[in-house]
Amino acid sequence: MKTVNNKRPIRVGVIGVGRGSGFASGATDLVGMKLVALCDTWKDKLREAGKKFGVATYTDYDKFLEHDMDAVVLANYCHQHAPFAVKALDAGFHVMSECAACHTMAEGVALARAVERSKRIYMFAENYPYSAYNQEMRRLYLAGRVGKFVYGEGEYVHPDPADVTMARSCGYNHWRNWLPWGVYYCTHAIAPVMFITDTIPVSVSAFVVPHDFDDPEQTETVRRTDIAGALMLKMDNGAIVKALQGSLRGHGNFVRIHGNCGLMENCRTGDKSFLRVWREPWEKNPGEPVEQIYMPDFPTHHGLAMKTGHSGGDFFTNFHFAEAIRSGRQPYLDVYRGLAMSMCGIQGWRSALAGSAPMEIPDFRKEAVRKKYENDVFSPDPSRPGHVSSSILGEIKPSKKALAFSRAVWRKQGYKGK
Ligand SMILES: NC(=O)c1ccc[n+]([C@@H]2O[C@H](COP(=O)([O-])OP(=O)(O)OC[C@H]3O[C@@H](n4cnc5c(N)ncnc54)[C@H](O)[C@@H]3O)[C@@H](O)[C@H]2O)c1
Repeated sequence: MKTVNNKRPIRVGVIGVGRGSGFASGATDLVGMKLVALCDTWKDKLREAGKKFGVATYTDYDKFLEHDMDAVVLANYCHQHAPFAVKALDAGFHVMSECAACHTMAEGVALARAVERSKRIYMFAENYPYSAYNQEMRRLYLAGRVGKFVYGEGEYVHPDPADVTMARSCGYNHWRNWLPWGVYYCTHAIAPVMFITDTIPVSVSAFVVPHDFDDPEQTETVRRTDIAGALMLKMDNGAIVKALQGSLRGHGNFVRIHGNCGLMENCRTGDKSFLRVWREPWEKNPGEPVEQIYMPDFPTHHGLAMKTGHSGGDFFTNFHFAEAIRSGRQPYLDVYRGLAMSMCGIQGWRSALAGSAPMEIPDFRKEAVRKKYENDVFSPDPSRPGHVSSSILGEIKPSKKALAFSRAVWRKQGYKGK
């Protein structure tokens, strides 16, 4: 078992050099971390990243886990994190995992058990809660500024031109080409609401905007999924949340929190990182404006965060992971919160295929509850036996033209597969 010496930096290895490069750059003295190894199966990209960061490189995950280090950051494929996390935890490493935490309910069970068994730190690397306006909303919420949480919205809407979409999804069976992402890729929308209000989803009903045969992002690419999904969640305090994600036009991340005596949301026009707080005239304190619109600082560590990229938001995932390792206490975004928001995608897809019927989000803190799901391998992953459809319309077959276009884009990226 690895023990961390509080006097020296936490030695970190990162798997996946795409998004993972952000974690690699962030593993610095500012958070008390040091990058020591990288792993990726894409040799050219790995070589480039190894040169840039000047650390050891591995194409084999098992060999990578033999490197002398304390912690592993998982930025490999979205649908493969859980088994990689279990392996790293069992080898004695602390783990921070990109979204999603698990791709099936059975993997969620295995992950919760592995964290408990290993007694290592596990952090779910959701960065969206840590933007300045979301952290400010948490601060205001905990101070009682808008009262009890009753309704919320989270949005992650991200359309792209066809060539950009394909450049990010090299290979016919790359997860971005088959994962019903309007439902499964839901943690960016849900995590901020959970974080601000300290609530957890207990059930989900999913509504899907189907594949659009007139939309070039769909017809010119090999995406076999639907346009978008709206998840309606019931939270453990009775509040209702709408989580919207997908390729709808109108790019943006938005969070809206209705309390029973006020509203907070980031602005939809102009600079979207401005925060709007509204209190009804008859409920506000004397002298308090009905509406306030301002650009908040990070409530904590503002100076440190502003020294890093992505307006500071990415700083906080590395920071809280390092803090958790040093203190020996699981972070706020622990395995159970990571699993709860990831399961909204899995159970959401189940709901979408069952006419939007509500599905439970089980509490994986409890072994008796986990038992029911330990063999539940429901998945649309085309490489898994018995997989379900990736679209509510059934199988979508890309045209020959779309396939040729996609392959040309992949070749430009240096991708040699099919
Ligand atoms: N939080 C955010 O803002 C954010 C942004 C982008 C991506 N992500 C997440 O980050 C993860 C990575 O996304 P990405 O954009 O880099 O694209 P990606 O999923 O294509 O990249 C994954 C990388 O992991 C490598 N990889 C896959 N399997 C491997 C294995 N068995 N061994 C070694 N390397 C392996 C691939 O070669 C690739 O370079 C995904 O889970 C995605 O959901 C999060």
